[in-house]
Amino acid sequence: IIQNPKNYVMNAKTTQAKITNKGTTEIMSYLENIPTGPLFRMQKGHEFSTSFKNNLDEHTNIHWHGLVIPANMDGHPENIIHPNESFEYRFNVNQRAGTYWYHPHPHEATARQTYMGLAGMLIVNDTEEATLNLPSGALEIPLIISDKRLSNNNLRYNPTMNEVMSGYMGETITVNGTAFPYTEVSSTTYRLRILNASNARIYNLAFTNNLPFTVIGSDGGLLENPAKMTSLLLGPAERVDILVDFSSLKINESVFLKSNTFPDGSKAQGKEEFNFMKFTVKTIVTENYQTPARLSTIEKLSMSSKTRTFKLQMKMGLKMSHQINNKLYSSTRIDETVKVGDIETWIFENKSDEPHPMHIHGLQFQVSERSSKRGILPHEKGWKDVVLLMPNETVKVTMKFPDNKGKYMVHCHNLEHEDDGMMLQFEIV
Ligand code: C2O
Ligand code: CU
Ligand code: CU
Repeated sequence: IIQNPKNYVMNAKTTQAKITNKGTTEIMSYLENIPTGPLFRMQKGHEFSTSFKNNLDEHTNIHWHGLVIPANMDGHPENIIHPNESFEYRFNVNQRAGTYWYHPHPHEATARQTYMGLAGMLIVNDTEEATLNLPSGALEIPLIISDKRLSNNNLRYNPTMNEVMSGYMGETITVNGTAFPYTEVSSTTYRLRILNASNARIYNLAFTNNLPFTVIGSDGGLLENPAKMTSLLLGPAERVDILVDFSSLKINESVFLKSNTFPDGSKAQGKEEFNFMKFTVKTIVTENYQTPARLSTIEKLSMSSKTRTFKLQMKMGLKMSHQINNKLYSSTRIDETVKVGDIETWIFENKSDEPHPMHIHGLQFQVSERSSKRGILPHEKGWKDVVLLMPNETVKVTMKFPDNKGKYMVHCHNLEHEDDGMMLQFEIV
């Protein structure tokens, strides 16, 4: 854990790591021999700075997913760092406590580089959150979930034509870079900060024994009120902050974090049920944790009459491709221009039979409406930067543009779709 990084030295390189206990594989990482990036913890109001060096033999950069920062620090696909070059990322973190993350963003290489191991979590803490006395220290566990494909223990990124279309999914689910994850816990309440860092896989998160959990936060920090749930769909790049109480388990008893089957009617892939992380109670404690009844205050943005529509569709052509408003990403075209301080409602219309987790850079938004009977889910009642659209859904999100002029991205966070061109550029002026 790196607290309030100041001039932290960071580099991207090819290295060897153990993902399973059967041996090592070549990966890309920000850390030697570790298949995940450093965990950064920032206190709101502090400056983050890192001198980043690219030791790969291809270009890369870093995007700070979910952070509200200047455009030239945001890892725009044009701000590329060539092999052996360095770049100083420096910005103030002035937003709500929450679970954010970072990964590369060079166009057409985002999926492969992120998949090969270049991704990490950045937690922001603030004084509002501190007053709640949420489980902390050993009782707060970050879980970065990512599915990997290993052949003979070697990590491979080799999507077929079909997988470029559907998204690349691996058979081995890793948590914090490790396959078959397992942790020992005590019989009390834990805070799990869960990030779906997978390229394309959606998880219908649940625990075995139908153990309930309490959602306290999502992409942009704490919700107003905690919400009890037993399962929750988490799309690529989404985060959810949950409390789970293991006090009903006996000593040596285990539960698994798993992915349930998907709700009916979805043609999403990867919808089979599987367990992936084991929690075993090794210490019995008698401690009665009380979840705060109220977590935070969220000023609700009402839908704006300034609207823009983004039609998500598959386009048949010589080659099929994923498009937004009949366009593929072009670095030389500004697709939408918005004004600092304006409030707008963006309408994502999924006209395809695939799910699309839609992400906007440089800000946090609120989910205002979803057309399907799923409605607005409990974890979507706070601030978000990714919203999952299941096939044929329309979702409206409302946002206020921050005082950070420049070019940002709006794209599908199925990373194969993104690299396929499902990304537009907007400029805040
Ligand atoms: Cu996490 Cu543009 O992405
Ligand atoms: Cu982002
Ligand atoms: Cu998509």
